[in-house]
Amino acid sequence: MNPPVPKVYIETVGCQMNVLDSELVVAALKKQGYTLADSPEGASLILFNTCSVREHAEEKTYSALGRHAAPYKKADPGTVVGVIGCMAQKDQERIRQRAPYVDLVVGTGQLAKIPALVEEARRTGQPQYALSLPRAGASRAEVEASFESYDPARDPEMRPTPFQAFVRVQIGCDKFCTYCVVPSTRGPEQSRPPEHILAEVRTLVDQGAKEVTLLGQTVNSYRYAHGDGRTTRLSDLLLAMHDTPGLERVKFVTNFPKDMTDDLLDAVRELPKLAKYLHVPVQSGCDEVLKRMKRLYTVASYREMLHRCRERVPGVAVSSDFIVGFCGETDDSFAKTLRLVEEARFKNSFIFKYSERPGTKAMGRYTDDVPEAVKKRRNNDLLAVQNANSLLDHRTWIGRSVEVLVEGPSRHGERAGGDRPQLTGRTMTDHICVFDGPPRLVGQTVTVDVTDASGFTLYGDVRVGEQTGVGRGATVEREPRPRRIGLAVV
Ligand code: 5AD
Ligand code: SF4
Repeated sequence: MNPPVPKVYIETVGCQMNVLDSELVVAALKKQGYTLADSPEGASLILFNTCSVREHAEEKTYSALGRHAAPYKKADPGTVVGVIGCMAQKDQERIRQRAPYVDLVVGTGQLAKIPALVEEARRTGQPQYALSLPRAGASRAEVEASFESYDPARDPEMRPTPFQAFVRVQIGCDKFCTYCVVPSTRGPEQSRPPEHILAEVRTLVDQGAKEVTLLGQTVNSYRYAHGDGRTTRLSDLLLAMHDTPGLERVKFVTNFPKDMTDDLLDAVRELPKLAKYLHVPVQSGCDEVLKRMKRLYTVASYREMLHRCRERVPGVAVSSDFIVGFCGETDDSFAKTLRLVEEARFKNSFIFKYSERPGTKAMGRYTDDVPEAVKKRRNNDLLAVQNANSLLDHRTWIGRSVEVLVEGPSRHGERAGGDRPQLTGRTMTDHICVFDGPPRLVGQTVTVDVTDASGFTLYGDVRVGEQTGVGRGATVEREPRPRRIGLAVV
Protein backbone atom coordinates (compact mmCIF):
# COMPACT_ATOMS: atom_id res chain seq x y z
CA MET A 1 0.00 0.00 0.00
CA ASN A 2 1.29 3.47 -0.81
CA PRO A 3 1.90 5.76 2.17
CA PRO A 4 -0.70 8.57 2.40
CA VAL A 5 0.24 11.78 0.57
CA PRO A 6 1.21 14.36 3.21
CA LYS A 7 -0.88 17.51 3.21
CA VAL A 8 0.07 21.02 4.24
CA TYR A 9 -2.44 23.65 5.33
CA ILE A 10 -1.27 27.26 5.50
CA GLU A 11 -2.91 30.48 6.68
CA THR A 12 -1.42 33.77 5.67
CA VAL A 13 -1.97 37.21 7.19
CA GLY A 14 -0.22 40.46 6.36
CA CYS A 15 1.34 42.07 3.34
CA GLN A 16 2.13 40.93 -0.20
CA MET A 17 5.60 39.90 0.97
CA ASN A 18 3.89 37.28 3.16
CA VAL A 19 1.67 36.09 0.33
CA LEU A 20 4.83 35.57 -1.72
CA ASP A 21 6.62 33.81 1.14
CA SER A 22 3.69 31.41 1.55
CA GLU A 23 3.75 30.64 -2.16
CA LEU A 24 7.45 29.82 -1.95
CA VAL A 25 7.18 27.72 1.21
CA VAL A 26 4.34 25.67 -0.28
CA ALA A 27 6.29 25.24 -3.53
CA ALA A 28 9.28 23.88 -1.57
CA LEU A 29 7.03 21.50 0.40
CA LYS A 30 5.39 20.27 -2.79
CA LYS A 31 8.83 19.23 -3.97
CA GLN A 32 8.95 17.03 -0.86
CA GLY A 33 5.70 15.37 -1.91
CA TYR A 34 3.17 17.51 -0.02
CA THR A 35 -0.13 18.59 -1.49
CA LEU A 36 -1.97 21.74 -0.44
CA ALA A 37 -5.00 21.25 1.82
CA ASP A 38 -8.01 23.60 1.90
CA SER A 39 -8.59 23.01 5.60
CA PRO A 40 -6.51 21.87 8.59
CA GLU A 41 -8.55 18.67 8.74
CA GLY A 42 -6.34 15.79 7.60
CA ALA A 43 -3.24 17.98 7.16
CA SER A 44 -0.04 16.58 8.65
CA LEU A 45 1.56 20.04 8.61
CA ILE A 46 -0.29 23.20 9.69
CA LEU A 47 1.49 26.51 9.12
CA PHE A 48 0.67 30.09 10.06
CA ASN A 49 2.52 32.79 8.15
CA THR A 50 2.25 35.77 10.42
CA CYS A 51 2.30 39.57 10.58
CA SER A 52 3.39 41.82 13.46
CA VAL A 53 2.70 45.23 12.00
CA ARG A 54 -0.37 45.75 14.21
CA GLU A 55 -1.46 43.98 17.38
CA HIS A 56 -4.71 42.95 15.73
CA ALA A 57 -2.82 40.79 13.21
CA GLU A 58 -1.00 38.99 16.03
CA GLU A 59 -4.20 38.32 17.96
CA LYS A 60 -5.72 36.96 14.79
CA THR A 61 -2.92 34.40 14.59
CA TYR A 62 -3.23 33.36 18.25
CA SER A 63 -6.94 32.86 17.76
CA ALA A 64 -6.37 30.91 14.52
CA LEU A 65 -3.84 28.72 16.35
CA GLY A 66 -6.47 27.92 18.98
CA ARG A 67 -9.13 27.08 16.39
CA HIS A 68 -7.21 25.63 13.46
CA ALA A 69 -4.22 23.92 15.07
CA ALA A 70 -4.81 22.99 18.73
CA PRO A 71 -7.73 20.57 18.18
CA TYR A 72 -5.96 18.78 15.32
CA LYS A 73 -2.71 18.50 17.23
CA LYS A 74 -4.65 17.07 20.17
CA ALA A 75 -6.42 14.53 17.98
CA ASP A 76 -3.16 13.52 16.25
CA PRO A 77 0.03 14.48 18.12
CA GLY A 78 2.00 13.57 14.99
CA THR A 79 0.66 16.70 13.29
CA VAL A 80 3.40 19.35 12.98
CA VAL A 81 2.31 22.93 13.76
CA GLY A 82 4.49 25.83 12.67
CA VAL A 83 4.46 29.59 13.18
CA ILE A 84 6.55 31.31 10.53
CA GLY A 85 7.29 34.87 9.41
CA CYS A 86 7.35 38.16 11.29
CA MET A 87 5.80 37.06 14.60
CA ALA A 88 8.11 34.05 14.72
CA GLN A 89 11.16 36.28 14.34
CA LYS A 90 9.92 38.70 17.00
CA ASP A 91 8.16 36.59 19.64
CA GLN A 92 9.55 33.07 19.70
CA GLU A 93 9.21 32.67 23.48
CA ARG A 94 5.77 34.19 23.69
CA ILE A 95 4.48 31.89 20.97
CA ARG A 96 5.65 28.81 22.84
CA GLN A 97 4.10 30.16 26.05
CA ARG A 98 0.73 30.91 24.49
CA ALA A 99 0.67 27.87 22.21
CA PRO A 100 2.99 25.25 23.76
CA TYR A 101 2.05 22.67 21.13
CA VAL A 102 3.80 24.65 18.38
CA ASP A 103 6.62 22.55 16.87
CA LEU A 104 8.24 25.05 14.52
CA VAL A 105 9.10 28.71 14.91
CA VAL A 106 10.77 30.02 11.75
CA GLY A 107 11.63 33.68 11.08
CA THR A 108 11.33 35.54 7.76
CA GLY A 109 15.02 35.07 6.97
CA GLN A 110 15.05 31.30 7.52
CA LEU A 111 12.11 30.03 5.50
CA ALA A 112 14.29 27.88 3.22
CA LYS A 113 14.91 25.58 6.18
CA ILE A 114 11.26 24.66 6.68
CA PRO A 115 11.22 21.29 4.85
CA ALA A 116 14.27 20.09 6.83
CA LEU A 117 12.93 21.42 10.13
CA VAL A 118 9.59 19.66 9.65
CA GLU A 119 11.46 16.38 9.27
CA GLU A 120 13.60 17.16 12.31
CA ALA A 121 10.51 17.95 14.40
CA ARG A 122 8.93 14.65 13.36
CA ARG A 123 12.12 12.68 13.99
CA THR A 124 12.97 14.14 17.39
CA GLY A 125 9.58 15.25 18.70
CA GLN A 126 11.37 18.41 19.82
CA PRO A 127 10.39 21.99 18.91
CA GLN A 128 12.57 23.51 16.18
CA TYR A 129 13.57 27.16 16.02
CA ALA A 130 15.21 28.96 13.11
CA LEU A 131 15.65 32.66 13.63
CA SER A 132 17.87 35.39 12.25
CA LEU A 133 20.11 37.52 14.46
CA PRO A 134 18.61 40.57 16.19
CA ARG A 135 19.74 43.80 14.51
CA ALA A 136 21.73 45.07 17.46
CA GLY A 137 23.11 41.60 18.20
CA ALA A 138 26.03 41.40 15.76
CA SER A 139 27.82 43.22 12.94
CA ARG A 140 25.74 44.38 9.97
CA ALA A 141 27.34 41.76 7.73
CA GLU A 142 26.52 38.98 10.17
CA VAL A 143 22.93 40.14 10.62
CA GLU A 144 22.53 40.50 6.83
CA ALA A 145 23.84 36.99 6.30
CA SER A 146 21.34 35.63 8.81
CA PHE A 147 18.42 37.04 6.78
CA GLU A 148 18.45 35.04 3.57
CA SER A 149 16.53 36.23 0.57
CA TYR A 150 14.20 33.30 0.05
CA ASP A 151 13.51 33.06 -3.66
CA PRO A 152 13.75 29.49 -4.90
CA ALA A 153 12.10 28.05 -8.00
CA ARG A 154 8.61 29.37 -8.63
CA ASP A 155 5.47 27.32 -8.95
CA PRO A 156 2.54 28.90 -10.81
CA GLU A 157 0.13 26.41 -9.20
CA MET A 158 0.56 28.20 -5.90
CA ARG A 159 -0.59 31.59 -7.10
CA PRO A 160 -4.17 32.82 -6.76
CA THR A 161 -4.01 33.78 -10.43
CA PRO A 162 -1.32 32.19 -12.62
CA PHE A 163 -1.01 35.25 -14.84
CA GLN A 164 -0.03 37.55 -11.96
CA ALA A 165 3.10 37.12 -9.86
CA PHE A 166 5.04 38.87 -7.14
CA VAL A 167 8.81 39.17 -7.42
CA ARG A 168 10.94 40.26 -4.50
CA VAL A 169 13.61 42.76 -5.45
CA GLN A 170 14.67 43.71 -1.96
CA ILE A 171 14.42 42.32 1.54
CA GLY A 172 14.40 44.18 4.87
CA CYS A 173 14.22 47.87 5.68
CA ASP A 174 16.70 50.45 6.98
CA LYS A 175 14.35 53.37 7.54
CA PHE A 176 13.44 52.62 11.16
CA CYS A 177 10.20 54.61 11.27
CA THR A 178 9.60 54.77 15.01
CA TYR A 179 6.23 52.95 14.93
CA CYS A 180 7.30 50.05 12.73
CA VAL A 181 8.48 46.51 13.53
CA VAL A 182 9.57 45.66 9.99
CA PRO A 183 13.26 46.62 10.31
CA SER A 184 13.56 44.09 13.14
CA THR A 185 11.29 41.35 11.74
CA ARG A 186 12.67 41.48 8.19
CA GLY A 187 16.21 42.64 8.92
CA PRO A 188 18.58 44.97 7.08
CA GLU A 189 17.73 46.30 3.64
CA GLN A 190 19.39 44.17 0.95
CA SER A 191 18.78 44.39 -2.78
CA ARG A 192 18.81 41.20 -4.82
CA PRO A 193 21.19 40.95 -7.78
CA PRO A 194 19.46 42.14 -10.96
CA GLU A 195 20.44 38.99 -12.89
CA HIS A 196 18.51 36.86 -10.37
CA ILE A 197 15.45 39.09 -10.62
CA LEU A 198 15.53 39.17 -14.43
CA ALA A 199 15.90 35.39 -14.63
CA GLU A 200 12.97 34.97 -12.24
CA VAL A 201 10.82 37.31 -14.31
CA ARG A 202 11.64 35.31 -17.44
CA THR A 203 10.72 32.06 -15.69
CA LEU A 204 7.45 33.54 -14.46
CA VAL A 205 6.55 34.80 -17.92
CA ASP A 206 7.38 31.38 -19.38
CA GLN A 207 4.97 29.94 -16.82
CA GLY A 208 2.21 32.26 -17.99
CA ALA A 209 2.64 35.43 -15.92
CA LYS A 210 1.56 38.56 -17.75
CA GLU A 211 1.87 40.96 -14.84
CA VAL A 212 4.63 41.08 -12.28
CA THR A 213 4.62 43.20 -9.14
CA LEU A 214 8.06 43.95 -7.78
CA LEU A 215 8.12 43.95 -3.99
CA GLY A 216 10.28 45.82 -1.52
CA GLN A 217 9.50 47.61 1.75
CA THR A 218 11.05 50.72 0.19
CA VAL A 219 11.21 49.42 -3.35
CA ASN A 220 12.36 52.69 -4.88
CA SER A 221 15.52 52.63 -2.76
CA TYR A 222 16.50 49.44 -4.63
CA ARG A 223 20.19 49.73 -5.50
CA TYR A 224 22.53 46.91 -6.37
CA ALA A 225 26.26 47.56 -6.31
CA HIS A 226 27.92 45.02 -8.60
CA GLY A 227 31.29 45.38 -6.92
CA ASP A 228 33.01 46.58 -10.11
CA GLY A 229 31.88 50.18 -9.90
CA ARG A 230 28.52 49.57 -11.62
CA THR A 231 25.24 50.20 -9.80
CA THR A 232 21.76 49.11 -10.87
CA ARG A 233 18.90 51.35 -9.74
CA LEU A 234 15.21 50.43 -9.83
CA SER A 235 14.81 52.42 -13.07
CA ASP A 236 17.67 50.41 -14.67
CA LEU A 237 16.09 47.16 -13.53
CA LEU A 238 12.71 48.16 -14.96
CA LEU A 239 14.29 49.07 -18.27
CA ALA A 240 16.16 45.77 -18.37
CA MET A 241 13.00 43.69 -17.80
CA HIS A 242 10.69 45.81 -19.91
CA ASP A 243 11.18 44.05 -23.23
CA THR A 244 10.77 40.52 -21.86
CA PRO A 245 8.51 38.95 -24.52
CA GLY A 246 5.12 38.02 -23.09
CA LEU A 247 5.37 40.40 -20.16
CA GLU A 248 2.51 42.90 -20.30
CA ARG A 249 2.55 44.85 -17.06
CA VAL A 250 4.94 45.75 -14.29
CA LYS A 251 4.07 47.36 -10.96
CA PHE A 252 6.26 48.04 -7.96
CA VAL A 253 5.37 48.63 -4.30
CA THR A 254 5.94 50.24 -1.75
CA ASN A 255 7.70 53.54 -2.39
CA PHE A 256 9.39 55.74 0.19
CA PRO A 257 8.65 59.43 -0.55
CA LYS A 258 12.20 60.68 -0.09
CA ASP A 259 13.62 58.15 -2.54
CA MET A 260 11.32 59.04 -5.45
CA THR A 261 13.96 60.03 -7.98
CA ASP A 262 13.39 61.59 -11.40
CA ASP A 263 15.04 58.70 -13.24
CA LEU A 264 12.38 56.39 -11.80
CA LEU A 265 9.53 58.74 -12.69
CA ASP A 266 10.92 59.07 -16.21
CA ALA A 267 10.97 55.28 -16.51
CA VAL A 268 7.32 55.10 -15.38
CA ARG A 269 6.39 57.66 -18.02
CA GLU A 270 8.46 56.25 -20.88
CA LEU A 271 8.05 52.48 -20.50
CA PRO A 272 4.61 51.47 -21.80
CA LYS A 273 4.41 48.25 -19.76
CA LEU A 274 4.86 50.08 -16.45
CA ALA A 275 1.64 50.71 -14.53
CA LYS A 276 0.98 54.43 -14.20
CA TYR A 277 0.50 53.95 -10.51
CA LEU A 278 2.60 54.82 -7.47
CA HIS A 279 1.91 53.79 -3.89
CA VAL A 280 3.79 56.38 -1.82
CA PRO A 281 2.62 56.41 1.82
CA VAL A 282 2.77 59.78 3.58
CA GLN A 283 1.42 58.50 6.96
CA SER A 284 0.52 61.96 8.34
CA GLY A 285 -0.10 65.52 7.18
CA CYS A 286 1.55 67.12 10.22
CA ASP A 287 5.27 67.88 10.42
CA GLU A 288 5.54 67.33 14.18
CA VAL A 289 3.94 63.88 13.82
CA LEU A 290 6.17 63.02 10.85
CA LYS A 291 9.16 64.01 12.93
CA ARG A 292 8.13 61.78 15.81
CA MET A 293 7.54 59.00 13.28
CA LYS A 294 11.06 59.70 11.91
CA ARG A 295 9.78 59.68 8.36
CA LEU A 296 12.68 61.89 7.18
CA TYR A 297 10.54 64.33 5.15
CA THR A 298 8.15 67.23 5.75
CA VAL A 299 4.62 67.73 4.45
CA ALA A 300 5.95 70.42 2.11
CA SER A 301 8.58 68.11 0.66
CA TYR A 302 5.97 65.36 0.23
CA ARG A 303 3.71 67.80 -1.63
CA GLU A 304 6.65 68.78 -3.81
CA MET A 305 7.30 65.09 -4.56
CA LEU A 306 3.63 64.55 -5.40
CA HIS A 307 3.72 67.50 -7.75
CA ARG A 308 6.85 66.11 -9.41
CA CYS A 309 5.20 62.68 -9.85
CA ARG A 310 2.24 64.24 -11.60
CA GLU A 311 4.32 66.61 -13.68
CA ARG A 312 6.73 63.92 -14.87
CA VAL A 313 4.12 61.18 -15.30
CA PRO A 314 0.95 62.82 -16.60
CA GLY A 315 -2.15 60.90 -15.49
CA VAL A 316 -0.33 58.88 -12.82
CA ALA A 317 -2.50 57.56 -9.98
CA VAL A 318 -1.03 57.89 -6.50
CA SER A 319 -2.17 56.14 -3.34
CA SER A 320 -1.07 56.45 0.27
CA ASP A 321 -1.11 54.91 3.74
CA PHE A 322 -2.00 56.81 6.90
CA ILE A 323 -1.63 56.10 10.57
CA VAL A 324 -4.16 57.96 12.72
CA GLY A 325 -3.80 58.44 16.46
CA PHE A 326 -0.02 58.23 16.57
CA CYS A 327 1.53 59.36 19.88
CA GLY A 328 0.90 63.06 20.48
CA GLU A 329 -1.44 63.52 17.47
CA THR A 330 -3.69 66.44 18.48
CA ASP A 331 -6.95 67.57 16.89
CA ASP A 332 -4.86 70.24 15.22
CA SER A 333 -2.34 67.77 13.78
CA PHE A 334 -5.17 65.53 12.57
CA ALA A 335 -6.83 68.55 10.90
CA LYS A 336 -3.62 68.98 8.90
CA THR A 337 -3.84 65.36 7.76
CA LEU A 338 -7.44 65.91 6.70
CA ARG A 339 -6.37 68.94 4.72
CA LEU A 340 -3.62 67.00 2.97
CA VAL A 341 -6.04 64.24 1.98
CA GLU A 342 -8.55 66.78 0.74
CA GLU A 343 -5.93 68.37 -1.51
CA ALA A 344 -3.71 65.49 -2.54
CA ARG A 345 -6.33 63.62 -4.61
CA PHE A 346 -4.99 60.18 -3.81
CA LYS A 347 -6.57 57.41 -5.84
CA ASN A 348 -7.14 55.63 -2.54
CA SER A 349 -5.67 55.50 0.94
CA PHE A 350 -5.15 52.71 3.41
CA ILE A 351 -5.87 54.07 6.88
CA PHE A 352 -4.70 52.40 10.08
CA LYS A 353 -5.19 53.18 13.76
CA TYR A 354 -1.83 53.40 15.50
CA SER A 355 -0.99 50.16 17.27
CA GLU A 356 1.88 50.34 19.74
CA ARG A 357 4.47 47.67 18.99
CA PRO A 358 6.92 46.35 21.57
CA GLY A 359 10.51 46.78 20.47
CA THR A 360 9.89 49.89 18.36
CA LYS A 361 11.47 53.26 19.12
CA ALA A 362 8.05 54.89 19.56
CA MET A 363 7.16 52.53 22.38
CA GLY A 364 10.18 53.52 24.45
CA ARG A 365 10.07 57.21 23.56
CA TYR A 366 6.43 58.34 23.40
CA THR A 367 3.12 57.61 25.09
CA ASP A 368 0.31 55.97 23.12
CA ASP A 369 -1.94 58.78 24.35
CA VAL A 370 -4.75 58.99 21.80
CA PRO A 371 -7.79 57.12 23.15
CA GLU A 372 -9.11 54.25 21.03
CA ALA A 373 -12.44 56.04 20.46
CA VAL A 374 -10.60 59.07 19.07
CA LYS A 375 -8.46 56.85 16.80
CA LYS A 376 -11.62 55.25 15.52
CA ARG A 377 -13.33 58.58 14.88
CA ARG A 378 -10.29 59.97 13.08
CA ASN A 379 -10.07 56.81 11.00
CA ASN A 380 -13.69 57.23 9.92
CA ASP A 381 -13.35 60.96 9.29
CA LEU A 382 -10.27 60.50 7.13
CA LEU A 383 -11.88 57.64 5.26
CA ALA A 384 -14.93 59.79 4.51
CA VAL A 385 -12.76 62.51 2.94
CA GLN A 386 -10.76 59.95 0.97
CA ASN A 387 -13.91 58.17 -0.24
CA ALA A 388 -15.39 61.43 -1.48
CA ASN A 389 -12.16 62.10 -3.39
CA SER A 390 -12.02 58.57 -4.77
CA LEU A 391 -15.54 59.03 -6.12
CA LEU A 392 -14.57 62.31 -7.78
CA ASP A 393 -11.50 60.64 -9.31
CA HIS A 394 -13.52 57.65 -10.48
CA ARG A 395 -16.16 59.80 -12.09
CA THR A 396 -13.53 61.47 -14.29
CA TRP A 397 -13.07 58.07 -15.95
CA ILE A 398 -16.67 57.88 -17.20
CA GLY A 399 -16.67 58.11 -20.99
CA ARG A 400 -13.05 56.96 -21.30
CA SER A 401 -11.79 53.55 -22.28
CA VAL A 402 -9.35 51.55 -20.18
CA GLU A 403 -7.19 48.46 -20.63
CA VAL A 404 -8.18 45.88 -18.02
CA LEU A 405 -6.24 42.75 -17.09
CA VAL A 406 -9.12 40.48 -16.10
CA GLU A 407 -8.47 38.83 -12.73
CA GLY A 408 -11.58 36.73 -12.18
CA PRO A 409 -15.28 36.73 -11.49
CA SER A 410 -16.45 39.76 -9.59
CA ARG A 411 -16.80 38.62 -5.99
CA HIS A 412 -19.78 40.55 -4.79
CA GLY A 413 -21.63 41.09 -8.03
CA GLU A 414 -20.80 44.75 -7.33
CA ARG A 415 -23.38 46.07 -9.75
CA ALA A 416 -26.94 44.96 -9.52
CA GLY A 417 -28.21 43.84 -12.88
CA GLY A 418 -29.35 40.45 -14.06
CA ASP A 419 -27.71 37.08 -13.94
CA ARG A 420 -24.94 37.73 -16.42
CA PRO A 421 -21.50 36.84 -15.11
CA GLN A 422 -19.47 39.83 -14.04
CA LEU A 423 -15.72 40.02 -14.20
CA THR A 424 -13.26 42.18 -12.33
CA GLY A 425 -9.79 43.37 -13.14
CA ARG A 426 -7.45 46.34 -12.85
CA THR A 427 -6.56 49.14 -15.20
CA MET A 428 -3.04 50.43 -15.89
CA THR A 429 -3.64 53.01 -13.17
CA ASP A 430 -4.61 50.24 -10.71
CA HIS A 431 -8.30 51.13 -10.70
CA ILE A 432 -10.69 48.22 -10.11
CA CYS A 433 -13.01 47.76 -13.08
CA VAL A 434 -16.11 45.53 -13.20
CA PHE A 435 -18.01 44.58 -16.36
CA ASP A 436 -20.22 41.85 -17.78
CA GLY A 437 -18.26 39.20 -19.61
CA PRO A 438 -17.68 35.47 -20.04
CA PRO A 439 -15.26 33.59 -17.77
CA ARG A 440 -13.00 32.81 -20.71
CA LEU A 441 -11.73 36.40 -20.59
CA VAL A 442 -10.00 35.75 -17.26
CA GLY A 443 -6.27 36.29 -17.74
CA GLN A 444 -6.82 38.42 -20.87
CA THR A 445 -6.30 42.13 -21.32
CA VAL A 446 -9.46 43.73 -22.68
CA THR A 447 -10.63 47.22 -23.54
CA VAL A 448 -13.52 48.47 -21.42
CA ASP A 449 -15.57 51.60 -22.04
CA VAL A 450 -16.28 53.11 -18.63
CA THR A 451 -19.94 54.00 -18.20
CA ASP A 452 -20.35 54.42 -14.44
CA ALA A 453 -18.34 54.67 -11.23
CA SER A 454 -18.63 54.32 -7.47
CA GLY A 455 -16.03 55.32 -4.89
CA PHE A 456 -14.40 51.91 -5.19
CA THR A 457 -15.06 50.66 -8.69
CA LEU A 458 -15.29 51.66 -12.34
CA TYR A 459 -18.07 49.95 -14.30
CA GLY A 460 -18.12 49.52 -18.04
CA ASP A 461 -18.77 47.54 -21.19
CA VAL A 462 -16.13 45.30 -22.68
CA ARG A 463 -15.47 45.89 -26.37
CA VAL A 464 -16.28 42.63 -28.06
CA GLY A 465 -13.49 41.19 -30.20
CA GLU A 466 -10.99 43.74 -29.01
CA GLN A 467 -8.71 41.83 -26.77
CA THR A 468 -5.38 43.48 -26.45
CA GLY A 469 -2.03 42.37 -25.16
CA VAL A 470 -0.25 39.09 -25.67
CA GLY A 471 -3.33 36.88 -25.90
CA ARG A 472 -4.86 38.94 -28.71
CA GLY A 473 -6.68 36.83 -31.22
CA ALA A 474 -5.93 33.58 -29.49
CA THR A 475 -8.40 33.31 -26.67
CA VAL A 476 -7.32 30.71 -24.19
CA GLU A 477 -10.22 28.76 -22.78
CA ARG A 478 -9.55 28.91 -19.09
CA GLU A 479 -12.13 28.65 -16.38
CA PRO A 480 -11.59 31.18 -13.63
CA ARG A 481 -10.10 29.47 -10.65
CA PRO A 482 -9.52 32.03 -7.98
CA ARG A 483 -7.35 30.39 -5.42
CA ARG A 484 -6.22 31.81 -2.16
CA ILE A 485 -3.46 30.50 -0.04
CA GLY A 486 -4.90 30.52 3.46
CA LEU A 487 -6.64 33.51 4.96
CA ALA A 488 -7.44 36.74 3.29
CA VAL A 489 -4.95 39.50 3.90
CA VAL A 490 -5.49 41.53 7.11
N1 5AD B 1 0.38 50.85 13.77
C1 5AD B 1 -0.49 51.10 12.76
N2 5AD B 1 -0.16 51.05 11.47
C2 5AD B 1 1.11 50.72 11.16
N3 5AD B 1 1.74 50.62 9.97
C3 5AD B 1 3.02 50.25 10.20
N4 5AD B 1 3.24 50.12 11.52
C4 5AD B 1 2.07 50.44 12.15
C5 5AD B 1 1.66 50.51 13.50
N5 5AD B 1 2.52 50.27 14.50
C6 5AD B 1 1.08 50.90 8.68
C7 5AD B 1 1.80 52.00 7.90
C8 5AD B 1 2.45 51.23 6.78
C9 5AD B 1 1.45 50.10 6.58
C10 5AD B 1 1.97 48.92 5.84
O1 5AD B 1 1.10 49.73 7.89
O2 5AD B 1 0.83 52.89 7.39
O3 5AD B 1 2.62 52.00 5.62
FE1 SF4 C 1 8.27 50.23 8.29
FE2 SF4 C 1 9.08 52.71 7.67
FE3 SF4 C 1 10.42 50.58 6.71
FE4 SF4 C 1 7.97 51.13 5.77
S1 SF4 C 1 9.81 52.45 5.57
S2 SF4 C 1 8.74 49.10 6.42
S3 SF4 C 1 6.94 51.94 7.59
S4 SF4 C 1 10.24 51.19 8.87
